[in-house]
Amino acid sequence: MTRIHFNEVVTRDGFQNEPHFVATDDKVALIDALSLCGYAKIEVTSFTSAKAIPMLRDAEDVMGRIQRVPGVETTVLVPNLRGAERALESRPDEFNLVMSTSETHNLANLRMSREKSHAGLREVIAMARGRVPVNVSLSTCFGCPMEGEVAQDEVLRWAERFARLDVRGLTLCDTTGMAHPDQVARMARALRAHFGGLQLTLHFHNTRGMGLANVLASVQEGIDRFDGSLGGLGGCPFAPGATGNICSEDAVHMLAAMGHDTGIDLPRLLSVARSLPAIVGHEVPGQVAKAGLITDLHPVPAHVAELREKA
Ligand code: COA
Ligand code: ZN
Repeated sequence: MTRIHFNEVVTRDGFQNEPHFVATDDKVALIDALSLCGYAKIEVTSFTSAKAIPMLRDAEDVMGRIQRVPGVETTVLVPNLRGAERALESRPDEFNLVMSTSETHNLANLRMSREKSHAGLREVIAMARGRVPVNVSLSTCFGCPMEGEVAQDEVLRWAERFARLDVRGLTLCDTTGMAHPDQVARMARALRAHFGGLQLTLHFHNTRGMGLANVLASVQEGIDRFDGSLGGLGGCPFAPGATGNICSEDAVHMLAAMGHDTGIDLPRLLSVARSLPAIVGHEVPGQVAKAGLITDLHPVPAHVAELREKA
C-alpha cells in the first residue's frame, strides 16, 4: 500500500475555464468543504492578470476568507513577480509557478518566450526564498496542441534548470491530455532518477480518456503525488481543445479500490462533488459521483427473490 498525496485544483484549473463567473461565496464554501476531505494540498486560486483569467479576479478575497485547516496546504498559481507580490500578502503555504516547455504554448498562455518566463520566475524564486516554498508546474510536458510532440529531453532540460534553483517540487502537466501510459512510465522513471529529492507531481487531463490509465502507470513507477479536479472540470483557456483534468473523486476511488491510502474521506468527497453541478450550472464529467461507490449495492429486484424462493 502506497501513501498517495492529492492536490485539488478545481477552484484554479477547474474554474479558470468556466464560461460564467463562480461567486466568491461559492468558491469559499467549496474550498472550506474540500479542506475537510483529507487533501494534502489545495490549489485555491491564481494571481494572474484579471484580463487574462477573469474567472479568478477575486483571488485576494478568496484567500482572505477561506478557513485554514491544519495539515492541508494552500497553494496558489503565480505567473510573474507582480503575481508573487500579490500572493505573498495572502499567506499561502506554497507558490506554484508556471511556464510551458513548448515555446508556442508559452507565448499563447503567458505572452512571452520561455527564456523570458524562466528569467522572471527566477526572480520570483529569489523573492520567495525564506518566505514561502516554491513548486514549479511545467505545462505541455507530454505534447503541445500546436507544436505536437515535446521531447522528453526538452522537458528534463527545463526541469533541471528549475531543480538547480531553490524549489521544493516540480509538477509535469499534460495540459491537453496527449500523454499515454508508456510515455508516462518513461517520464516517471526519468523524473525519479534525476530529481528524486524533490516533490514530484503529475498533472493529467482526461481529454482523450487516458487520464486514469496515466495515473496507474505513474503509481506503478513510484509517483505518489497527483493534481486532480473535482468533477473533472478544468482546462487552460490558452490551449486549443483543452478539457477537464482527471476527476479527483474517480482517481481516489480507483486508488482506494486498489488498496492505496490517499488520506481522503471518499463518501465526504462524493457529497461535495454532488454539489458541484449546481455551483457551475451544468453537468460535470466525473463518473463515480453519478454511479456511486463499487460498494454501494442496489436492491435485489423482486422477481429475482421470487426465482430464488422457487429454486
Ligand atoms: N496580476 C494582476 N495583474 C497583472 C499581473 C498579475 N500577476 N501581471 C500583469 N498584470 C497586468 C498589468 O498590470 C497590466 O495591466 P494594465 O493593462 O491595466 O496596465 C496587464 O496585466 C498586462 O501586463 P503585462 O506585464 O504586459 O502582462 P502580459 O499582458 O504580457 O500578461 C501574464 C502576462 C502572465 C500576466 C498574463 O498573460 C496572464 O495572467 N496569463 C494567465 C496565464 C494563466 O493563468 N493560464 C492558465 C493557467 S496555466
Ligand atoms: Zn491543467
